[in-house]
This record gives sequence, C-alpha cells and structure tokens, in this order.
Amino acid sequence: MSTAPRHARVIDTLRVGSHVVLPNVATGVIQRREPVMGLADRLQLDRFGIRRMQRLRARHGTGLLRLRVPGRSMALVLSPDDVGTILADAPEPYNPATLEKRASLAHFQPHGVLISRGDARPQRRHLNEAVLDTHQPLHRLADSIVAVVVDEAMRLIGNATSAGELTWQEFSEQWWRIVRRVVLGEQAADDTLLITQLESLRRRANWAYLAPRASGTRQRFAGRLAEYIDHAEAGSVAGLIADTPAGRDAAPYDQVPHWLFAFDAAGMAAYRALALLASHPDLAESAREEVHGDETQQLPFLRASVLESVRLWPTTPLLLRETTSTTEWDGTSLPAGTTLLIYTPFFHRDKRTLSYADRFAPDIWLDGTARENPALVPFSDGPAQCPGENLVLLVSSTLLARLLTARGFEQTGGHRLDPTRPLPSTLNPFALRFAVT
Ligand code: HEM
Repeated sequence: MSTAPRHARVIDTLRVGSHVVLPNVATGVIQRREPVMGLADRLQLDRFGIRRMQRLRARHGTGLLRLRVPGRSMALVLSPDDVGTILADAPEPYNPATLEKRASLAHFQPHGVLISRGDARPQRRHLNEAVLDTHQPLHRLADSIVAVVVDEAMRLIGNATSAGELTWQEFSEQWWRIVRRVVLGEQAADDTLLITQLESLRRRANWAYLAPRASGTRQRFAGRLAEYIDHAEAGSVAGLIADTPAGRDAAPYDQVPHWLFAFDAAGMAAYRALALLASHPDLAESAREEVHGDETQQLPFLRASVLESVRLWPTTPLLLRETTSTTEWDGTSLPAGTTLLIYTPFFHRDKRTLSYADRFAPDIWLDGTARENPALVPFSDGPAQCPGENLVLLVSSTLLARLLTARGFEQTGGHRLDPTRPLPSTLNPFALRFAVT
C-alpha cells in the first residue's frame, strides 16, 4: 500500500463535498437530469472537481485522505496504484455494495449483483458473466445483435437524412429500440412504457434513501419485464437466461433491470463518441477504413473511440467501495465500514501525468498505454468490473460504423469539440446536434 492515510481539514472536506460529490448528485447519479446536465456543461463543473483533487494531492500527497464526515468513515483515493489495489480486491475487503448504492439501486433492482453481498454475489456475478459473455469480445449472439443494430441504424440514418440533422431525441429513441430488441427480443421493440416505468424508478433512485419506494410502479415494471423474460426469444440476451445454470440465490430475472438501465449510459457514450469522431475527421477516416460492409466485426478502432468517450466523460464518475474489515495502510488501520471514493475524472484527465489527458486519443486503448495505468477505469476493474463492457462495445461500435460509413456528420449544436483545444471537462450529450450530409 502507499503512504499512511492523512486527515483532510474540515474546509477541504467541505470542498470535496461541493466540488466532487454534489455535482454528481445534482446531475443525477442513476438517471441524468437534462436541465442540470446543461448547466453543468455551461459551468464545466467537472473541471472544479478535478482541480480540487489536484490541489488535495499537492497538499497531502498520494496516500488515502480521510474526510471529516460526522458519523461516517470516508476516504478519498489519490493514487492510481491504490485504485488498482482497491478494485482488484473486491468484494473482500473492498465491497462494491456500499450503503449509498444499496439505498439507490434498491428502488428498481433490489437483487442486482452490484448491491449483493455474501453468498448471493458470486451466484449473481456468475449469471451475469455467463449471459453477457463477459470475456468474449464478440458475444455468442453477435450475428443477431449486429443484424438488429444495422436495421435500426438504417432507420436512424433515414430519419436523420430527411430531417437534415441528428438530435439526441432521435438518437435515443432509436437507441432504446436497439436495447429492447437486443436484450428482450422483437416482442419488446416498441415497448416504450417499460422504459418510462424504469426511468420513473431511476428518478427515485437518484434520491437514494431520501425517496420512498414506489412499490406499485416497481411491481408493474417487474411484472412486465418477467412476461418478456418468460417468453424470451432465441437470439435475444434474455433468451439465454433459461439455459444458464444458476445458483439458488442468483435471482436471474432481477439482473435484467441493471442491463436496461446501464445501456442508457452506453447510448450517451456512443453519442459523445460520434461527436468526437465528427470533430476529428482524420480519426473518423481511420474508423471508416476498418469497416467491411454489414458483417459482424470486432472494430478495434471504434471500440477504442467509445472507450475514449467514457475515459473523457465517465458515465460512472464516482466508484465507491466499502471496507468489510479493518484494512492496513502502511501501518495505519482504517476501520471496517469505511467508504472509499474513487473520482475517475481526476485520474482520467490528470494533466500532470497524462500527455493525452484532454485530447481524443483512441490509440491509448490499442497500443497498451491505457493498460499500464491502473486508474483508467471507465468500466471499473477487478472482480466487480462491468460484465457488460464487451457487449456495450459491440453494440456501440457497430452502430457508429453504420452511421459513419453511410453519412457525414458535422456538429452543429452543443459544446463544440475543437481538436486544437483541450476537450471540455463536462459534455452534455443531450445538447449535441449534427448536420447530416
Ligand atoms: C457505457 C456503458 C457502461 C459503462 C461505462 C459501465 C460501467 C460500469 C462500472 C464503472 C461498473 C462498476 C460500478 C461500481 O463499481 O459501482 C459497472 C458495473 C456493472 N455493469 Fe456496467 N457499464 C456500462 C454498461 C453496462 C451494460 C449495458 C450492462 C449490461 C448489459 C452492464 C452491466 C453491469 C453490471 C451487472 C455491473 C455490476 C457488476 C458487479 O457488481 O459485479 N453495464 N459498469
């Protein structure tokens, strides 16, 4: 472990609260609030969080920094190596199922793996990995997934071409059709109500323990979802659940809400990646060159572009872990129940150590640079790393491939991405618009 933990001053704890935690809570941890995202972009809120962390590191060094929060033991992680160690040692002693996450996600997925503890966690993790084909770059259903994406991409291109522009509204409608078809099959293609129900639960989840549970909405949502899973079609991800051996506590149906919820972040990541590529024509050309028609492909450059999108603008900016036992840090003990905060924008955009901090650099994901840095973790890392990463990269890279080879995209709205200037710290995806030629 690095150096022994130090104590932050009260004023620094308050600044961490206002510059790092509050903006994330305000923009909506589980369901992004569009108007607040607009404001966050105008104020470039993440810049303040990153600067605050840099100042804390300059003052206290790279050891853990204990915050002065009444009644709670909390510490901020300031070194990339500590990020690696903490994420590698999940769920013991660094458990992902923290108090805040449990309070929040229980609104719509009380048995989801991310907030599961004890014997249930490995069973649920196993189910997720088995169905999502976590370790395969191309999911076993890749051919049918690609067919869905190509089909929806054609529609999206058609609509955007007639309108002359692509907006978030248009993009997200088509994206959700892709998600429903990929996860639940054709039967759910048009079921916008399911997503509306989920969004309503996610809005409550933003408030964690401060909002009462909407048990009626949750029951209706879970019932509707169960109908789809009961009749899941071959070729859909949910269709794999029935054939996947699962432990007694695996709660397979209860894993699906997380998949739907998390695909929302993937849509934002893909749309921001489109903005990056639209503003870097030479890199868009490299992306086009790797595409061979409609066939199922791994598309390394486009995958790297999506990884860059989530490095630059992480969709889970705060990774939280809770210690399950006393942990030793260079001879100093931290009590069990300590919450560890990993604020990824600080590590992903650290100008002091990363030459590419504020520019679009897909190559770092291809030439081993990213792998060398234990704190570049847009999909987390270790035993609780996102089990959907490869599926996300398959769907998003395929969609980008179809869009970029069919049309030209020029950014006309939202925060302009200028390749000659540092990229913005905050990028509101909802305001991005493109002229389609
Ligand atoms: C851009 C899209 C996505 C990103 C950036 C992302 C990132 C992450 C991160 C950072 C975590 C760890 C969270 C934490 O420690 O608190 C996580 C967990 C998880 N993700 Fe994703 N995710 C994405 C999409 C998806 C999708 C589409 C699925 C499923 C189809 C998925 C399934 C999961 C699950 C089940 C977990 C919990 C894993 C565990 O606790 O063992 N994610 N994801």
